[in-house]
Amino acid sequence: MHRMARLPLLPALVLALASALAPSVVADPQATLLNLGCSQYNATPTAAFLVALNSTFAKLRANLSAGGFATASEPRAAAPAFALAQCRPYVTGRDCVACFDAAAARIRASCGAANGGRAILDGCVIRYESAAFFDQSTLPGNTQLCNGSAVAGGGFDGAVRALIGDLAAAVPRAPRLAAAAAGAGVYAMAQCVETVGAGGCAQCLQVASRNIGGCSPNSDGRAVDAGCFMRYSDKRFFPANATVDLAAYLLSGEFILVFCVSC
Ligand SMILES: *[C@@H]1O[C@H](CO)[C@@H](O)[C@H](O)[C@H]1NC(C)=O
Ligand SMILES: *[C@@H]1O[C@H](CO)[C@@H](O)[C@H](O)[C@H]1NC(C)=O
Ligand SMILES: *[C@@H]1O[C@H](CO)[C@@H](O)[C@H](O)[C@H]1NC(C)=O
Ligand SMILES: *[C@@H]1O[C@H](CO)[C@@H](O)[C@H](O)[C@H]1NC(C)=O
Repeated sequence: MHRMARLPLLPALVLALASALAPSVVADPQATLLNLGCSQYNATPTAAFLVALNSTFAKLRANLSAGGFATASEPRAAAPAFALAQCRPYVTGRDCVACFDAAAARIRASCGAANGGRAILDGCVIRYESAAFFDQSTLPGNTQLCNGSAVAGGGFDGAVRALIGDLAAAVPRAPRLAAAAAGAGVYAMAQCVETVGAGGCAQCLQVASRNIGGCSPNSDGRAVDAGCFMRYSDKRFFPANATVDLAAYLLSGEFILVFCVSC
């Protein structure tokens, strides 16, 4: 009798242990969908294109977890396919692959046999086309996505603009064309598609800064474009150790904001 009464404790203990471990174990692929688009034209021949596209997606998935960026192409297929995938610098390993799977599912559900498509999620992006596009930086359709309401207090807007300005200046020189930074109650990141190069990155982030700047002083802003992505929030959306010291990538005179090193 005593034994039976105690039995339910075990599952309860396991649950407690599991939730205690959760913060470090449970994935956060940041799979919120921000932007989904499909070409209005179908690829021909359709069946051959879908086979080529599946092959590029499989290659992307296999390569993505290594560095968070991959391109794949089937240029010699009967209907060529080109695709790229990228995860944010703080969405790594299995989270990155989980985000990729969510993005691929969105594209498959919406784009059918369209000869181009993209899914931009908070944590990652996938784009495919029937022609090469890996060097494209800013394109028509670039836009802002604002959320939340105005943050009270005078300092927020200035802090957002300073951090966005620093990121736009620093990231074209940063490793892998990406950085996250925090300061004065603002968390922000900027990232370029690695194949656009430093010049394309600078150009894209200039447009993105203008777009995202229009969101401040709202609590949350994002800017999406073909070749880059920016995001800021008054809430942390990356681990504390994901930030980099932007000063290392800024020329003297470019530095706008003094950062707190440990925030
Ligand atoms: C492509 O992959 C999807 C999902 O893995 C599958 O459902 C579909 O049948 C595949 N299409 C082709 C043409 O291979
Ligand atoms: C993907 O992996 C293949 C084979 O493992 C390699 O040849 C290729 O260069 C990789 N591509 C990228 C973009 O990482
Ligand atoms: C915008 O804010 C609402 C309300 O807090 C939230 O439910 C939604 O997920 C947010 N959208 C994005 C893209 O973060
Ligand atoms: C950040 O911390 C996590 C958990 O401790 C660790 O797995 C990861 O490698 C660290 N990342 C960096 C960039 O140091």
